[in-house]
Amino acid sequence: MAMLKILQYPDKRLKTVAKPVEDFGPAFQKQVDDLIETADQAENCGALAATQVDIHLRMTVINPLQEGDETLCLINPTIIEHEGELFEDEACMSVPNFHAKVKRYKKIKLAYQDRHGAQHTLEADGGYLSRCIQHEIDHLNGILFIDHLSPLKRKIYESKLARRKKRA
Ligand code: CO
Repeated sequence: MAMLKILQYPDKRLKTVAKPVEDFGPAFQKQVDDLIETADQAENCGALAATQVDIHLRMTVINPLQEGDETLCLINPTIIEHEGELFEDEACMSVPNFHAKVKRYKKIKLAYQDRHGAQHTLEADGGYLSRCIQHEIDHLNGILFIDHLSPLKRKIYESKLARRKKRA
């Protein structure tokens, strides 16, 4: 396994739309292991999408919420039903030192494959898992949570980033 580099905004590769996974062979299994390893080792990391480590396939891993639980590995995730709205704080490993409220669906039903290609569905009713999955699917479509912000809030982030760069 290898720890991969996490791309940081404004890296243009974060805008790549990922391709569906069709080949679940050994080369892909190694990429899954690397993504799990990277999410596990990175500090304060709740979840990672493959896009963030420059692998442009539709997969994301979500770290266990409780010790003893397994890492959730979602391949080709698709929201098939949704209901209601959430407006909660989000942050991102690719957008350091910033967090903001983003509007999401409250309840989702997800179709996905596991790392071996078997089909599953999952329901998330509000809270962390629901918004986390939506945040990660956005990554696979080349979208960051800051892309959902109002122009003003976005500007505040951009100037924060510019100040930080100047100091570095
Ligand atoms: Co993110």
